[in-house]
Amino acid sequence: MRFASLAANGHNTQPWRFSLAPAQVRIMPDFSRRTPAVDPEDHHLYISLGCACENLSLAAEARGRQAEIAFLPENSGSIRMDLATSQPRPSVLFDAIPHRQCTRSEYSGAAVSPADLSQVEAAAQVDGVGVIILTERAKLNSVRDFVVHGNSLQMDDKAFTAELKDWIRFNPREALAKRDGLFSGCTGNPAIATWMGEALFPVIFGKKGENDKYAKQIRSSSGVAIFTGAKANPEHWTRGGRSVQRFALQATALGMKYAVINQPVEVAQIRTEFAKWLGLGAARTDFVLRFGYGKPLPMSLRRSVADIVVHV
Ligand SMILES: Cc1cc2nc3c(=O)[nH]c(=O)nc-3n(C[C@H](O)[C@H](O)[C@H](O)COP(=O)(O)O)c2cc1C
Repeated sequence: MRFASLAANGHNTQPWRFSLAPAQVRIMPDFSRRTPAVDPEDHHLYISLGCACENLSLAAEARGRQAEIAFLPENSGSIRMDLATSQPRPSVLFDAIPHRQCTRSEYSGAAVSPADLSQVEAAAQVDGVGVIILTERAKLNSVRDFVVHGNSLQMDDKAFTAELKDWIRFNPREALAKRDGLFSGCTGNPAIATWMGEALFPVIFGKKGENDKYAKQIRSSSGVAIFTGAKANPEHWTRGGRSVQRFALQATALGMKYAVINQPVEVAQIRTEFAKWLGLGAARTDFVLRFGYGKPLPMSLRRSVADIVVHV
């Protein structure tokens, strides 16, 4: 359960509960942790469940339990994992689980070798999910323009910024008390008192400053990976999450860092333009990340296993 909870998830809300039965685990959505402003369709919520599912499956395999995964739309989109006994199968992806993080800093700009690019692409293969990797500078500049446009619209959206502020943990005391949300240290920002963070939020998160930061971060990155789903429904979103998590773990194992630049999929109007630019037809763009090389930042916290497990 601990390995599962270390998965990437939107705003670090950890929108999951795990129910345990002999030889079976169910991963259930925790709708009390929805983020309706940024994620009105629960798309990110189901991507996050997929990320946790992949970690749990890798951990189970490493410990001698082969996981068979089924999506249960009739149970609010829970994921059932039946765990059969098998030979333990440790993997580099499993070993990378505690080291993976979203690293929201400028990277070194160094190129990733074609062999390593093929390896992350191969690791991310999941049925129903497409992965597009871009490294050409002109294309990365176009992605930057979509990100900056999306970010500008989000920064003008009061519901979006209010929700974001609610999930920011401005100092270690607040982060440790809640063990969820976005700790400022994980973004390389200094710790400040909660009242001050709330008061200064509009200044700290100004539109121009954030746009310039994203532009620089994308310029410093080696490439961008875009994940697409054959269908736009919760089951496919969990598949997308599994693919994203596998990509992230393989990248971590190869010494790379990554960060999410999801604005082109979060703003519906831009999502359509972005899909058109990619020449995607009916497929939905589910996730966008940048990757490269950089120094680690502090790890983000998770709630304790006791808080997320339900015994049946
Ligand atoms: C569905 C989803 C959406 C996310 N969206 C963003 C985003 O828009 N911006 C961002 O900086 N990080 C984003 N993240 C990264 C999460 O904030 C991050 O996984 C979480 O804070 C936990 O931190 P960690 O991945 O370093 O453990 C997203 C992650 C997921 C799975």
